[in-house]
Amino acid sequence: MSYTVAVVGATGNVGREILSILSERQFPVGEVHAVASRRSLGTEVAFGETTLKCKDLASFDFAGVDFCLMSAGGAVSREWSPKIAASGCVVIDNSSAWRYDIDVPLIVPEVNADAVAGYAKKNIIANPNCSTAQMVVALKPLHARAIIKRVVVATYQSVSGAGKAAMNELWSQTKGKYVPGQEVEPATFPKEIAFNCIPQIDVFMEDGYTREEWKMVAETKKILDPRIKVTATCVRVPVFVGHSEAVNIEFEEPISAEEARDILREAPGCLVIDKREPGGYITPMEASGEDATYISRIREDTTVENGLALWIVSDNLRKGAALNAVQIAELLINRKLLKKAA
Ligand SMILES: NC(=O)c1ccc[n+]([C@@H]2O[C@H](COP(=O)([O-])OP(=O)(O)OC[C@H]3O[C@@H](n4cnc5c(N)ncnc54)[C@H](OP(=O)(O)O)[C@@H]3O)[C@@H](O)[C@H]2O)c1
Repeated sequence: MSYTVAVVGATGNVGREILSILSERQFPVGEVHAVASRRSLGTEVAFGETTLKCKDLASFDFAGVDFCLMSAGGAVSREWSPKIAASGCVVIDNSSAWRYDIDVPLIVPEVNADAVAGYAKKNIIANPNCSTAQMVVALKPLHARAIIKRVVVATYQSVSGAGKAAMNELWSQTKGKYVPGQEVEPATFPKEIAFNCIPQIDVFMEDGYTREEWKMVAETKKILDPRIKVTATCVRVPVFVGHSEAVNIEFEEPISAEEARDILREAPGCLVIDKREPGGYITPMEASGEDATYISRIREDTTVENGLALWIVSDNLRKGAALNAVQIAELLINRKLLKKAA
């Protein structure tokens, strides 16, 4: 059995990664369509050893397409996903447009695969925010053992999480620091990102948190457990790919660092690299291009009852977006939940 797949947003950071992951994992594709805006009509994108010419979303016919892997932003998804879904194609969306809709499952396959069963209500499945995805992959097996009460997380998020324009801004601003007359003013980010850290991702909300921080709270509750309290500080750092997170967890029951390390070693999607010596941990540069969620610096936090501290790193374009989306499509196939498009 093979499937027809459309990748919408195929010229973007996530879309290109989706195409490469479909090819790497030998996803059972019959036909693959690269779709983007009219601006990219005819632009070539790589798919394994071949190239695909981009089509324009506004005139693309989704009849007969089984999966639409969508990464073209929230506004495009809000307008197009319901129309695409109505044509019988399952939309797996990377934007935040549908994540909080009660009729749309928000899925991380290692964490809440069973929740995908309700997808046919809208024929749309949401992919979580990149920072949430990697965090819940590590929290799930620990929660199953000792019940998490509260999580305090600080993120160190790479610029690729803000799209291709943001990567260009870091690159040109960094070069501009050394070439007189080529300084680059902030455009994508509210302040200079080169050699800097910006404690704002997405817009401010009334309570003083940013929307990115709110997403981590709401999505952790929807995916893992509504009783878990989360407080987040999300920070953009001058790293191209790979998000890092310093996570402090308070459990209902005691759990030692050693036991947590053993549990995480066995957990799906997790890879523990945790030697208490210089360099015995993972940095975003090493996680870039990889599928795993890496966990390092596992230690007991004695300032609270039953506390643990961890360092979690993953490739935001892969587990945080493209890989997770492809895994959701595989989940539908493996569980025989997909109605094949006419
Ligand atoms: N990057 C991450 O780590 C990450 C993680 C999770 C979720 N996401 C989400 O994934 C989505 C895409 O992110 P990205 O980083 O890939 O952004 P990006 O690099 O800026 O790419 C955006 C893509 O959307 C396409 N697009 C824009 N307007 C369109 C329109 N009117 N019709 C059709 N296609 C249109 C663009 O096509 P053109 O080239 O033709 O303009 C491009 O292919 C966003 O919603 C983002 O929040 C990203």
